[in-house]
Amino acid sequence: MSPPAILTDVLSRYTTTPALGPYPHVTLTFAQSLDAKIGRRNGSQLILSGKESMIMTHWMRTMHGAILIGIGTALNDNPQLNTRHLPPPPPGAAPYHLPRPVILDAHLRLPPTCKLLVNYKSGTGRRPWVICATVSDDPERTRRLKALENAGARVIQVSGLAADIMDEGVSTLPIPTILEALYASGIHSVMVEGGARVIGSFFSAKTPSGDSIVDSLIVTVAPTFVGEDGVGYGQELGKKTQGFEYVKAELIGRDMVVAMIATPAL
Ligand SMILES: NC(=O)c1ccc[n+]([C@@H]2O[C@H](COP(=O)([O-])OP(=O)(O)OC[C@H]3O[C@@H](n4cnc5c(N)ncnc54)[C@H](OP(=O)(O)O)[C@@H]3O)[C@@H](O)[C@H]2O)c1
Repeated sequence: MSPPAILTDVLSRYTTTPALGPYPHVTLTFAQSLDAKIGRRNGSQLILSGKESMIMTHWMRTMHGAILIGIGTALNDNPQLNTRHLPPPPPGAAPYHLPRPVILDAHLRLPPTCKLLVNYKSGTGRRPWVICATVSDDPERTRRLKALENAGARVIQVSGLAADIMDEGVSTLPIPTILEALYASGIHSVMVEGGARVIGSFFSAKTPSGDSIVDSLIVTVAPTFVGEDGVGYGQELGKKTQGFEYVKAELIGRDMVVAMIATPAL
């Protein structure tokens, strides 16, 4: 019982060459349909991964210090971000490592009743960290911050919204600042699990030297079409997307899993 070769091939370099800072190693991972959709627009959860590639994703979670999602995914899917699909560890072996859940939530919209917080309170999940924009003295945000802290969350405020995409009303927290804060808190590898906007932000985030902030890309392609009510991620990519070099592809169950690593900026 061990992670599939495609994961060890790509991710073992995180152990052999630990992140030196100021950023952790970053793996961007998601499941997509053949028409490049990762979710459904009407708010229902779309399960794209088959059983075997879902297990692969849970192995991947054991190989990272943190697992990061956007508030859109937290609200839509109410995920648990744990390793429940893995077989039980052999008798006497240590339990699987559980990654720290991290939620990008500029306005503190995460419900205190979400599964991540309920699991933490019941001792079956790690304490979620919620990253928000500076709260200042806004009474409503202060109330939400207290409610989340009372429910068990660690709330980390970061200054400097990277951009307010006004027509969509979306606030994007600055990815490099967030990663620096995670590294400073002892997180040396982060698995970014979506959703669409967060994937776009990570694809276009750069280090000061112009390199991709993403080190590895692991994409599960499910043999299905979602159609026009699907949520895609391609529109966020623009022209700035970093190059990625093919490492390996593996058929896992009925899904094709493709692994790539970032190539240095020219
Ligand atoms: N197939 C897969 O592998 C997979 C995985 C995860 C999720 N999904 C699907 O993805 C969909 C959700 O995607 P989504 O785009 O609506 O939500 P999302 O990417 O999960 O979250 C986006 C929200 O996060 C906040 N945010 C803060 N900083 C950000 C930053 N730097 N970049 C981007 N967002 C930032 C913003 O919240 P505010 O609006 O509050 O400003 C933004 O609206 C759901 O359908 C879900 O099922 C699919």
